[in-house]
Amino acid sequence: MDKFVLGKPEEYIQWYDDEGNIINASDGGVIYVDGKYYWYGMKMREGGQGYGEMTTTGVVMYSSEDLHNWHYEGVILKCSDAPASDLYGPLRFERTKIIYNKKTKKFVLWTHYVKYPGVHAREIGTAEAGIASCDTVNGEYTWHGYVRPVDNRGAVKDSTLFVDDDGKAYFIYDRVVGQPKAPDEDRCIHIVELTEDYLQPTDNYRRIEAAYWREAPCVFKHEGWYYMLTSSISGWNANQGKYCRAKNILGPWEDMGDPWVGDTDGTSFHSQGTYVFKAGDQWIYMSERHNTENFVHCSAIWLPIEFTGDGTLQLTYQEEW
Ligand code: DGJ
Repeated sequence: MDKFVLGKPEEYIQWYDDEGNIINASDGGVIYVDGKYYWYGMKMREGGQGYGEMTTTGVVMYSSEDLHNWHYEGVILKCSDAPASDLYGPLRFERTKIIYNKKTKKFVLWTHYVKYPGVHAREIGTAEAGIASCDTVNGEYTWHGYVRPVDNRGAVKDSTLFVDDDGKAYFIYDRVVGQPKAPDEDRCIHIVELTEDYLQPTDNYRRIEAAYWREAPCVFKHEGWYYMLTSSISGWNANQGKYCRAKNILGPWEDMGDPWVGDTDGTSFHSQGTYVFKAGDQWIYMSERHNTENFVHCSAIWLPIEFTGDGTLQLTYQEEW
């Protein structure tokens, strides 16, 4: 197969690895290292909502030379059997992302971490930024614990990582303050510069008002513009995508509206973005199709990002490309 086959918009085409197993790497990303692409994400367990959206395995990885044939590499961040461990499952490693630090020569992983029993709430341990690192991309990552950037009032929900051309890295996340669904609940994407080793947040952060009440951030830079694609907030149900752009990573960011062409039912073609990466000259948008009946059967649509001039972009659904 040398094409991405998405099928009709309402088809949910499953991705399989080279041994015929479903690729089960939820809401992760892809990193390119020494001629290979590595696709990683949380391994969901069997079951529906309230059960399956957690892991008792950890973060898993697949590799490919062509983005079409994927080989299972194994578990790179393992759940533990010890009840006292941060890594005791079931837990959540949602929206895991991996970047490379050229100075320390380490691969650094950040994730939206929810400790055992993996239930989202606002207390410490139930909505954090989890951090791990490894000397090799596909080795076993060492857990460094978890943190709330900015301050402990702000719970960490959907998140991503971005490395700028100058080597500075940023953790970008949905910061949640206040009581769930109460009038004082405030949710806004924040961007936080990381320390030189990428293992801690610094005090340099910004609130991105153009991404107020948004989640699933995917950030990249192309020809002088920083772009952030986001979803709205509706749990696992797909909703309308938007993007914003900036000339400076810390802003100001400008709301640019919905990038999808022909998204008539406002579902981003039944998907929610998870990452943007570059393959050759092509920026690829990875978007996940959550299956709340059984999360193991989540699927994905990947699409080329089209730049439409003057710092604008769009996404066009394609049955194959
Ligand atoms: C929406 C997020 O984007 C998903 O990744 C997941 O965290 C769900 N919320 C959980 O309700």
